[in-house]
Amino acid sequence: MEDPFGHHISYLRVSITDRCNERCRYCMPDEEQQWFDRAEVLTYEEMLRVIQVGTRLGIRKVRITGGEPLTRPGAVDFCAQVAALPGIRDVGISTNGTLLTKPLADGRTTAEALVQGGVRTANLSLDSLDRASYFSTTRRDLLPKLLAGIDAAQDAGFGSIKFNCVLIRHQTERELMNLIMFAREKGALIRFIELMPVSTAEVLREDSFLACGQAKKLIERETGPLIPRPDYKTNGPASYYQIPGTDQLIGFIGAMTNFHFCETCNKLRLTCDGKLRPCLGSYLEFDLREVLRSGCSDDELADFFLHVVARKPKEHDFRGSYQPGRRMIAIGG
Ligand code: 5AD
Ligand code: SF4
Repeated sequence: MEDPFGHHISYLRVSITDRCNERCRYCMPDEEQQWFDRAEVLTYEEMLRVIQVGTRLGIRKVRITGGEPLTRPGAVDFCAQVAALPGIRDVGISTNGTLLTKPLADGRTTAEALVQGGVRTANLSLDSLDRASYFSTTRRDLLPKLLAGIDAAQDAGFGSIKFNCVLIRHQTERELMNLIMFAREKGALIRFIELMPVSTAEVLREDSFLACGQAKKLIERETGPLIPRPDYKTNGPASYYQIPGTDQLIGFIGAMTNFHFCETCNKLRLTCDGKLRPCLGSYLEFDLREVLRSGCSDDELADFFLHVVARKPKEHDFRGSYQPGRRMIAIGG
């Protein structure tokens, strides 16, 4: 699948639920969430069918997201089913990490079962190593659970573990080096992410915004100039740098300040209520569920995909007049 700007689309992010056991300020407006009804959310069978049709069109990589994907019953089995689909080469999960130690009925931890089910990468949210700051960001006192989850992920043997840290002004600055050292200790790749305007919460005021460039300068005060590593690519829009005198890489995801951000985009998103979205930072979404539930054929589903890809914008509209119209938690981070 190729969009009008020559992007090859091979990556589908699938949000399996809008529920979460945390309440991150940058992700959802407030405590009083309006969750989707069960009937609005696609069944696993429906999602598998959509992904299968995607593979016919060149989808090779799937990332399972939420909300918090591990809050949905059966998530681990679903991940394994996705990994087993012919044509799928890579399955990852984005999780807040707090449920990775949870034992399944057979005694394995959730992390072990994910790895054994064929999930190769785990991207874990890690905004702070300070319990009070963690609580103030996520509104849940779950840092100890996350830390245990990180250890469980390491023990389980994921092919790669990444930490995602959302940059929050007046908070992240003082923790940058700590977070980097922690990532080094754990053998994880840490990425710092600019706050995107995808929630209506008060953290999205200018005042909370910390640009990647500012964070980089603060880090360089401690490490000396970071070494750009444009040769190093993951499957996303991060720019990577090496810390001088070490082999550690760190990444920056600067959706707001990097004007080349969208150039290598290879993604589509499926929301848990069955909307296909060509871009996180655009209003555009297309109701796949309606088509799916009207008894369509696989060919019709494939046509639907192509139609959405043809509408993929050249770049996101976060710097323009974009208002999400939807909470991040209902899109999938
Ligand atoms: N801005 C930037 N990143 C966000 N995430 C969620 N909401 C936002 C936001 N407003 C990212 C976080 C989280 C992942 C699920 O999505 O990194 O870990
Ligand atoms: Fe939950 Fe992740 Fe959103 Fe935080 S960012 S509320 S952990 S879905």
